Amino acid sequence: MRLIFEHVTKKFAQTKAIDDVTFDVEASCVAVVGGNAAGKSTLLKLIATVLKPDEGRVILNGIDIVKHAHLIRKELSYLPEEPALMDTLTARDNLALFSKIKKADYSEELLRSLRFEPNGKKLVKNLSKGSRRKLSLCIALLGEPKILVLDEPTSGLDEEAKQAFWSHLSTLKEKNVAMIIATHDMEEMKKLADFVIVLDRGRLVKIESLNSAASYIQL
Ligand SMILES: Nc1ncnc2c1ncn2[C@@H]1O[C@H](COP(=O)(O)OP(=O)(O)OP(=O)(O)O)[C@@H](O)[C@H]1O
Ligand SMILES: [Mg+2]
Repeated sequence: MRLIFEHVTKKFAQTKAIDDVTFDVEASCVAVVGGNAAGKSTLLKLIATVLKPDEGRVILNGIDIVKHAHLIRKELSYLPEEPALMDTLTARDNLALFSKIKKADYSEELLRSLRFEPNGKKLVKNLSKGSRRKLSLCIALLGEPKILVLDEPTSGLDEEAKQAFWSHLSTLKEKNVAMIIATHDMEEMKKLADFVIVLDRGRLVKIESLNSAASYIQL
């Protein structure tokens, strides 16, 4: 995956959530880190075409993502920080519904690999936070997307589920799935990511390479 940000700015009233960010990375897994309100979720939303930049351009694999959002959406799956689930349906019904929308069946193997055991008749609104998270991850992984944009995917997961999730991602990475992940779980990300993008109050602090096979330019 090649991801280019060219002087990208995104404002909310007076706040510059992303402030003149410029970089060019070629990598299969990019981690986005920084403290609270650093702009991580905003950066991911721009890539996922949920938000449009006020200034600048984002180019993903040679495609201007504002001009050709429909092309990007075909290839990309986005897990928001607070995932949208159908609260008044069961987990299985959510999986069935999103499978229909994404035209991709879910497999028991996927559920097992994320340590998710959907519990009978319980509605999603009554599931624990971790179970909701696991369900959202299963939905995000439906249909074998080529690019994954994941906002704090392991937040709220217990240790076993976290390990299972990171190991599942490393299998996907071997299958050439590209990933951009906002996380605070740096120890795990170091095993997976080729790059770390560090943000602070909307500004790019640095891009650090963790893998000499990947390349980048900080302009
Ligand atoms: N929809 C919005 N309306 C107004 N301000 C927003 C909106 N979204 C983000 N912001 C502001 O933009 C800044 C960056 O927010 P963002 O959610 O991108 O940070 P973050 O790095 O993901 O933080 P966290 O670690 O808490 O998830 C914050 O100051 C936030 O208040
Ligand atoms: Mg966030």
